[in-house]
Amino acid sequence: MKKKVALITGINGQDGSYLSEFLLSKNYEVHGTLKRNSVSENQTYRLDSVYDRVNLHYADLIDLSSLIYVIQKIQPDEIYNLAAQSHVKISFDQPIYTSQVTGLGTLNILEAIRLINPKIKLYQASSSEMFGNSIDSDGYQRETTQMNPVSPYGCAKVFSYNICRNYRNSYDMFVSNGILFNHESPRRGTNFVTNKVCKEAVKIKFGLSNQLKLGNLNATRDWGHAKDYVEAMWMILQQDKPDDFVCATGISHSVKDLCEYVFGKLELKWEDYVTSDEKYLRPEELNDLRGDSSKLQNVTGWSPKYTFESMLDEMIEYWINFYKK
Ligand code: NAP
Ligand code: GDD
Repeated sequence: MKKKVALITGINGQDGSYLSEFLLSKNYEVHGTLKRNSVSENQTYRLDSVYDRVNLHYADLIDLSSLIYVIQKIQPDEIYNLAAQSHVKISFDQPIYTSQVTGLGTLNILEAIRLINPKIKLYQASSSEMFGNSIDSDGYQRETTQMNPVSPYGCAKVFSYNICRNYRNSYDMFVSNGILFNHESPRRGTNFVTNKVCKEAVKIKFGLSNQLKLGNLNATRDWGHAKDYVEAMWMILQQDKPDDFVCATGISHSVKDLCEYVFGKLELKWEDYVTSDEKYLRPEELNDLRGDSSKLQNVTGWSPKYTFESMLDEMIEYWINFYKK
């Protein structure tokens, strides 16, 4: 039987790397886009385990012709649009660039699909950041919760979410949004709070540092593991009909809880090392996230295997091994 062909934009990102491994295990032919970087050596380190088994193509989400060229060439069955300027705080520093990539970039993908082959299925990486501070009366966010984004990144993701729904309804295209809550791993960028805390706490334990500066310690997030969440992405595209799904664990913790767990695991008291620095505060903050993924679980049978604790244990272990070397 002919292998299914998948194209992952942002293949070298956290999720792209796990998704490549997952799709290869399902016998897909996997392709991915890389954007040009002056230092090519570090750009693909997350793909080390699959580097020889994936096909990489240069393309940029804001460069429509590069997307058309790749899609035309490989004729994918499925596209996973994971590429984005994905850092919320940085989206306040670069709002226009973020809107171009994270917002208009999605429209470029949709137009390329419409022009080349509208039968290609598209997964759009939507985000819990789209909800902003809207919370249903039971304390959860779900597919029907109002979207009131509080960052340029969130605004750009709402545009992408809506334009995907518009193309699905207007042109009968198979376009689905996965509304994913925060998900982490040892491959998470170290300027996101979970991996920053794990890395810095291990450095403190090994005597390589003596303080950790963070921003808002009271914000809460629903943190899951990226490995579990890429499986949900695939399941969403295997449904008979396109639709939108929240993916979350349903449990939330504060940044303070995160520090307490990570430092505690290393037999340290977080209060002795962590301080709050204005530099890491955002002009507007999303205070609390907790997702209800009942729809995803009922329709696809998805459920997470990692807990908050087992995910952090894996991340701490990664940094211990890293600094031991
Ligand atoms: P990530 O690690 O930041 O990866 C983003 C990827 O996009 C990288 O491969 C990056 O390449 C690429 N990229 C950035 N700008 C690009 C451009 N102009 N053209 C082409 N590629 C570009 O993000 P992630 O954590 O894997 O997340 C994947 C997607 O899910 C993102 O769209 C993110 O917004 C969304 N999301 C993430 C979470 C989460 O908690 N992780 C939750 C909800 C939604 P370089 O590394 O070379 O810059
Ligand atoms: N990055 C960072 N650095 N965040 C900090 C820090 C710090 O030093 N100190 C406190 N925080 C707080 C942030 O203010 C936020 O409330 C929370 O920790 C989580 O921040 P991030 O890890 O940067 O993630 P995020 O929630 O802003 O965004 C991530 O999740 C979204 C889904 O909800 C990103 O992956 C987005 O791309 C994703 O869409």
